[in-house]
Amino acid sequence: MSFPETRPRRLRRTSALRRLIRETTLSPDNFICPLFVCPGSGVRREISSLPGQFHFSVDEIVREAREIADLGIPSVILFGLPQKKDDVGSEAWHSDGVVQNAIRGIKKAVPDLAVIVDACFCEYTTHGHCGVVTDGVVDNDATCDNLGRLAVSYARAGADIIAPSGMMDGAVGFIRESLDEEGFEHTAILAYAAKYASAYYGPFRAAVDSTPSFGDRNGYQMDPANVREAMREVALDVEEGADLIMVKPALAYLDIVAEVRSEFDVPIAAYNVSGEYAMLKAAAEKGWIDHDRTMLETLLSMRRAGADMILTYHAKEAARLLRGK
Ligand code: PBG
Ligand code: ZN
Repeated sequence: MSFPETRPRRLRRTSALRRLIRETTLSPDNFICPLFVCPGSGVRREISSLPGQFHFSVDEIVREAREIADLGIPSVILFGLPQKKDDVGSEAWHSDGVVQNAIRGIKKAVPDLAVIVDACFCEYTTHGHCGVVTDGVVDNDATCDNLGRLAVSYARAGADIIAPSGMMDGAVGFIRESLDEEGFEHTAILAYAAKYASAYYGPFRAAVDSTPSFGDRNGYQMDPANVREAMREVALDVEEGADLIMVKPALAYLDIVAEVRSEFDVPIAAYNVSGEYAMLKAAAEKGWIDHDRTMLETLLSMRRAGADMILTYHAKEAARLLRGK
């Protein structure tokens, strides 16, 4: 049958009919809210490259976490700013580091919130690379050793999920083994499985001062031109024991999300990164775009592509809008 018997507009005629045939949903349940934790107390400093986002000291981040949970958002992911950077980023695995303290504070005050921690060294190293640098390149295996240490330190502080984001080979397996050896077999791993060497990370790097002081990240992050390689990366991480996997960035990589969805059964996260957030904020500020509608449409596109979870700086504002409906 075709026109005039078939008329797709019949089912778009009213809001109730449209709701009935809606294929994808967007809810605060889908959000993971990124948070930046910094040294000090009473600090709540707006990040100039990410309007509406803040550096929080531990006391302030606990308050923020409570607000996030009250909005119906199930999870946060923590990024830390160290007191002092060094060659290998050793402050990252100090048991008294800002992130460890934030984990303990949040788990105590808001135990229902799932706490994910980004496990990487670029915020902690003087050179800004994601691990130990030997002869000018990031030393994969030495970095994995440190990642094991880091993961155990976060797990000991009470993290629910460890998220290695450095694209080191074997990192997931290494972290799994380190966690299990120390009795943290219930701590999950969210692998940044397909993370591309993207210019969309610019505002984030400005926010945490992690721009590499020499070279770039092309030797470890993926080439934006590749799809099949992403499938291999995901397969390896799943084999090594990843409980959840991530595609990053999200918006320019929805084809990757869709393909991973069709090939794998594991839960998939998409990272709506800093540059995506900043572009929308800037266009809205200029009055060129309807901020709220564009934001929800963008987040929905990630769900439609197949993401179960979305890491997004929009989490709070989107949750407010969705709950208002
Ligand atoms: C680094 C890391 C990056 C982001 C989170 N952790 C990217 C990078 O500097 O390569 C980007 C997040 C964003 O842009 O929102 N391990
Ligand atoms: Zn890194």
